[in-house]
Amino acid sequence: MRPDYPLRTERLVLRPYEPADLDDFHATRSRPEVYRYLFADHLEDRAAAEEALHQKMTQTELTEEGQWLVLAAYWPEVHRVVGDVVLKWLSEEHRQGEIGYVFNPEFHGKGLAREAAQQMLKIGFDDLGLHRITAVCDPRNEPSWRLMERLGMRREAHHRHNELYKGEWCDAFIYALLADERA
Ligand SMILES: CC(C)(COP(=O)(O)OP(=O)(O)OC[C@H]1O[C@@H](n2cnc3c(N)ncnc32)[C@H](O)[C@@H]1OP(=O)(O)O)[C@@H](O)C(=O)NCCC(=O)NCCS
Repeated sequence: MRPDYPLRTERLVLRPYEPADLDDFHATRSRPEVYRYLFADHLEDRAAAEEALHQKMTQTELTEEGQWLVLAAYWPEVHRVVGDVVLKWLSEEHRQGEIGYVFNPEFHGKGLAREAAQQMLKIGFDDLGLHRITAVCDPRNEPSWRLMERLGMRREAHHRHNELYKGEWCDAFIYALLADERA
């Protein structure tokens, strides 16, 4: 499954990352606060950001389970890539996927992440034919789970101290949406 790029939402253009996106990618990924609830560490070093960007540039289609689709969210109004959304194909047999998102704090609070994530749900359900799409976050990451709720996802579970990251045991909220629950 390869989306017909570029995809357009109300305000955004969603497309694979390009080499010219490095400044915008680094601007987001070099901020520690962006990574507070992510497993990885922030990419202060520009060369490390460039390496990560090059890997994401290859994640443009889903041909087998386990792969990630990564779409840069370009906002023409500011001529910047303001964030990205991902869809992981978790299981072909059970038609499951998981979404995620990372946006530059300069552009939070505008509904842009919601707009991009909504499109990713559409790709997962309509193009990939998924039955269930999940999203996971630390309960302290309120902007993330509030967004899941705005997307119509249901909180299915609160896992206690199930993952060790950044030196502490952390909880996880599991959210999900079924194809036949979509509005
Ligand atoms: C998670 C994350 C993407 C959420 O970003 P966000 O900007 O809060 O999300 P949205 O795009 O849905 O914007 C929502 C806000 O915009 C407001 N908004 C303004 N204009 C809007 C519009 N036209 N449409 C919709 N919402 C709008 C909403 O009211 C909402 O504000 P509120 O939370 O005060 O009610 C962001 O916090 C982030 O990148 N965090 C760092 C990385 C991370 O933790 N990722 C998740 C890992 S699990």
